[in-house]
Amino acid sequence: MHWCEPTGYRPFWAVTRHADIKAISSQPERFANAPRTMLLAKQLEDQGLTRGIRTLVSMDPPEHRGYRAIASSWFRPGTLRSIENSIRDTTRRLFDSLADRSGTFDFVTEFSSWLPLKVICSVLGAAEEDEALVLQIANTAFGLEDPEFGPKMTELAPRMVAYYQRIMTDRQANPTDDLYSAIANATIDGEPIGIIELVSYLLIMTTAGHDTTRNALTGGLLALIERPDQLARLQENPRLAAVAADEIIRWTSPVIQFCRTATEDSEVAGQPIKAGENLSLFFPSGSRDENVFEDADAFQVDRDPNPHLGFGFGEHYCLGASLARMEIRIFLEEFLPRVRNIQLTGTPLRTAASFVGGVKHLPIQWELNV
Ligand code: HEM
Repeated sequence: MHWCEPTGYRPFWAVTRHADIKAISSQPERFANAPRTMLLAKQLEDQGLTRGIRTLVSMDPPEHRGYRAIASSWFRPGTLRSIENSIRDTTRRLFDSLADRSGTFDFVTEFSSWLPLKVICSVLGAAEEDEALVLQIANTAFGLEDPEFGPKMTELAPRMVAYYQRIMTDRQANPTDDLYSAIANATIDGEPIGIIELVSYLLIMTTAGHDTTRNALTGGLLALIERPDQLARLQENPRLAAVAADEIIRWTSPVIQFCRTATEDSEVAGQPIKAGENLSLFFPSGSRDENVFEDADAFQVDRDPNPHLGFGFGEHYCLGASLARMEIRIFLEEFLPRVRNIQLTGTPLRTAASFVGGVKHLPIQWELNV
């Protein structure tokens, strides 16, 4: 527990230990998500970029549970089994499109951006012609601090709002069996949800599963390229794909932090916390806590058990965790038998981010079995 007052940010407690992150996340009444959901540079807070947004991550119980229930059944393992074949088909098509690529290419723009995008768009029911816009929304919303993505928000905002309005109007008039329809027609206690909550729901659904999973896939591939012994171990034991998927999430931990605000005076790890103070939960740090993980700084594809905090913990535990795990496992299952040779051909570039981070460009070269 460390009190931080960094330049450009409002002050907060940095929570970096596995046990403390779990303890705080398990007490949503004492440590609330509202009003400061995440650390954002003061300059961006002052621009009011997150004002007027009410998503699941800015809600607290009991309200949070009602809203979470609107989408939760879509992300249960049982429901997801019914789309496993279609995720595999999408993955295979992406590999096929790059199978005879002989030179350098960017794994992010040509592969890892598209897999999570196509998967979440198919769950939502987004049309193929809207995928490029959804991709732009996701990249920009989670890349606000990065000069490559952030400045595009001003130009994008009206198109984003127009898109959500079109979806809302269309699915309210002609509901189908997709998740967009479930959200557009959602009710809580028999009443339709408010317009701000509805648009916020569409926003979190189109963004939360994208950059996170993309960064896990990219960082996971980079870890395997840099550690040929771990790649060979997986190729010899492809059944480890599910276990390796969790190690990839622990290792890359794309969500850097979420915040909580103390609702009363309390204590964490012997440290008094005053009501109103903010606490920032650093998930990547908790996932490398040497009190919990042996050789915490080693990437081990067979690490099991793996109680990482990459998906958070407790009340706000990632809604899409099973979907993300499935996408990474299927990626590995399709990649391992195909890859003959793979190399890094340039310097990986990381996103400038304090919220969702990772590699935004990964130049590689590969030879695949066709
Ligand atoms: C590797 C990929 C992913 C990572 C690392 C990740 C990580 C996280 C984390 C750390 C949280 C906050 C947990 C907490 O505060 O305790 C979260 C929440 C959430 N995630 Fe994910 N996520 C991933 C993929 C997805 C996918 C595919 C979806 C699908 C739409 C998704 C939807 C959500 C939603 C809706 C929440 C808010 C849940 C709530 O507040 O109740 N995530 N995620």
